[in-house]
Amino acid sequence: MNVDDALGSLDRAREHTLAIIAPLSDLDVSVQHDPLMSPVIWDLGHIAAFETLWLLRNLHGPIEFSEMPGTYNPFEHPRSTRGLLGLPSLDEQRGELARVRAEVSARLAKEAFDADSPLLRDAYVVRMVAQHERQHQETILQTLQLKQGAPYAAPRAWRVPDSPGRPLDGAMVRCPGGPIRIGTDDRTESYDNERPAHEVMLAPFDIDVSPVTNGAYLRFIADGGYDDRALWSDAGWSWRCETGIRAPKHWERDTQGQWRARMMDAADVVDPLRPVCHVCYHEAEAFARSVSKRLPTEQEWEAAATWNPHTSSQQAFPWGDHPLTRETANVDQLGFETAQVGAYPRNVSPIGCYGMIGDVWEWTSSDFGGYPGFAAFPYPEYSEVFFGSEYKVLRGGSWATGADVARATFRNWDYPIRRQIFAGFRCARDA
Ligand code: AVJ
Ligand code: FE
Repeated sequence: MNVDDALGSLDRAREHTLAIIAPLSDLDVSVQHDPLMSPVIWDLGHIAAFETLWLLRNLHGPIEFSEMPGTYNPFEHPRSTRGLLGLPSLDEQRGELARVRAEVSARLAKEAFDADSPLLRDAYVVRMVAQHERQHQETILQTLQLKQGAPYAAPRAWRVPDSPGRPLDGAMVRCPGGPIRIGTDDRTESYDNERPAHEVMLAPFDIDVSPVTNGAYLRFIADGGYDDRALWSDAGWSWRCETGIRAPKHWERDTQGQWRARMMDAADVVDPLRPVCHVCYHEAEAFARSVSKRLPTEQEWEAAATWNPHTSSQQAFPWGDHPLTRETANVDQLGFETAQVGAYPRNVSPIGCYGMIGDVWEWTSSDFGGYPGFAAFPYPEYSEVFFGSEYKVLRGGSWATGADVARATFRNWDYPIRRQIFAGFRCARDA
């Protein structure tokens, strides 16, 4: 992994930040659209602050802070309070982003990227900052999907393909199990929580060929899945009773009783061939029980995505070692929608699982924790402080995930009640 490529990932990140915010007004970015989300202007300031910290102040160590003290420190200011901070205008914030980037570019042009420094070697810290911006873009897109007032006029840069029409719904394939290598030792782009690579012993299991579709989820609703206590865990049933929720977030029934789903400013009759999106862990778990299946563990998910049983080796991606492009999988944001399952015929793993990268994050049954031998790097506030049973791991990335972040070893995490994230799931069962 060379340095030019890392500098390129910074450029690509910024291009998408500016594209995503281009349709927004000062009001759009300053309002707290939802208590779960920051005003967009905060995310923008935090992107600039994080870049300042890691590519200007911390670059040659010792590491001064892990997050910038003050307004843009996420631990000092919970999301629900960030609307009260008195933040700059959109023009000022764009100016700040550009000012920081100009200084960073000048610094990095002279940087030797000392191979003895784990932060600088292969420009790791540059990719870390680019991925940080990419991850906040996905956060911003969650906010824009929740936007109050007029819907966000998504600046679509391409159209996702239609599915060639393979009937994948509910079909399963077998993973033979055995000793399987998961995780990575990569130090050029991977986060600390993806390391170290290690072997796990998996019993054989079956896993869905595609993510659960809207069509299948509509049947779960119609069959009374939300009212069948036996399908829900205790925590899931409490959540369902307290919220009264009976459908995925951003779904609405029209006057004829048809379910419609909104993706940004596009609201349409629910497409039965797209993966269900905006469901929480509890809903995923209840659905799985309704079809006598369960959610996969994250180890099973990764084995299904990247383990090649024919060669007994781990691949970088489901399709092999070719880098991810938006032609291979539905990622990188500017399509602004999920695609029908099977729409990316090359996005298939050695055992035959489609769509593991892109479209929707997939809930797994695993709690977020460190792999054996985990070491926090370069700061514990990225991963380690979130380890524990409160969070569930999600895998695979969504349409809203930047291409520089979506990879098979990447681990996302969130509370099991969260639905604003672009998350669906696929099911598994013991063989
Ligand atoms: C990995 C998506 C859970 O948004 O909290 C952004 C990413 N970390 N800034 C989050 C992150 C620090 C993180 N997630
Ligand atoms: Fe952040």
